[in-house]
Amino acid sequence: MDVQNPTSISSPQFAEHEILRIRPLLLKPQWMNGLSERLLVSHYENNYGGALRRLNAIKARLAALDWARTPVFEINGLKREELIAASSVILHEIYFDSLGGRGDSPPSGTEEPPAELARALERDFGSVKAWRAEFTSMAKALAGGSGWAILSWSERLGRLINDWAADHAHNLPGATPILALDMYEHAYHLDFGAKAAAYVDQAMANLNWERIGARYRLAIGEGAEDKFFLPYGAPTKEEARISAEELRVALEGANARRPVLLDLCLPKDLPRRVDMLAGASMHAPSALERWIDELPRDRPIAVYCICGFQVSGTAVTELRRRGYDARALVGGITAWHAIGGATVPLDTSTYEEKS
Ligand SMILES: [Fe+2]
Repeated sequence: MDVQNPTSISSPQFAEHEILRIRPLLLKPQWMNGLSERLLVSHYENNYGGALRRLNAIKARLAALDWARTPVFEINGLKREELIAASSVILHEIYFDSLGGRGDSPPSGTEEPPAELARALERDFGSVKAWRAEFTSMAKALAGGSGWAILSWSERLGRLINDWAADHAHNLPGATPILALDMYEHAYHLDFGAKAAAYVDQAMANLNWERIGARYRLAIGEGAEDKFFLPYGAPTKEEARISAEELRVALEGANARRPVLLDLCLPKDLPRRVDMLAGASMHAPSALERWIDELPRDRPIAVYCICGFQVSGTAVTELRRRGYDARALVGGITAWHAIGGATVPLDTSTYEEKS
């Protein structure tokens, strides 16, 4: 059983035997400001996804332990790796959430913190500009090494702090990160080589202050709407979404209830695709009137696109309006990759518009 709502960041803690679900990318990787899709997707699928897969494997191992009989070195090793993997997962989620444009727009590079967070930064650092100078200098000081530059709210200190972390599990106790900048080389090497400082400047021009502000409100106990953490264009109703983990279980189930897989892709996005889920049929969203008659009304339908934004979201809303049991895959095939889901080479033979 898994319990985390993949679109909420205020979900209940998972129990020892439960798995942690992947969170979707909220940024549009193909539209970022000077950070490539190749870099961001590789980072999300391999490093974030890898940490999540590792964490769930460790938790499964821990759940099966006979604690009284297990050697202490094995307990120590597993608990240390669990802490590192869980911290890496959480910091990567904050990192990816911290980046991206507003709604369907690419990052402008000129966004500023919302008024409430700007006032807090002024109060604690003198000005937003002074905070930015400290934060970016702290991040650049990690060049050639590894770690995280973090902006956190500390309840005990009663202020925002810039928190330097040499590894995933090295944070001020009790402080809540609201912005995290990944300074491990995998976060920038594909685009910037060893030029970590250039990466820091470019990442700062991609910040999504709306979501960072929402995290600040959560940290200080004021709450924030879940809409800030839902992929743009994804169905708002939970029953219209399916997580990658739920889909994997459903595909292993009895044939009659196994979801029919629908792979939707805009013509302009075809060059971005190399693979698909086994058994899926690929269609153009605009050709809905041609492919909808192929869909069964007596089986669930899982619809996916690249990242789970409006391509699958709009189609699922329309299919459900017409009475189909359709759900959009949260995070799209990118999230599927990140959980280690199997794929097959792309087959476009059923695609309507190969332009
Ligand atoms: Fe990373």
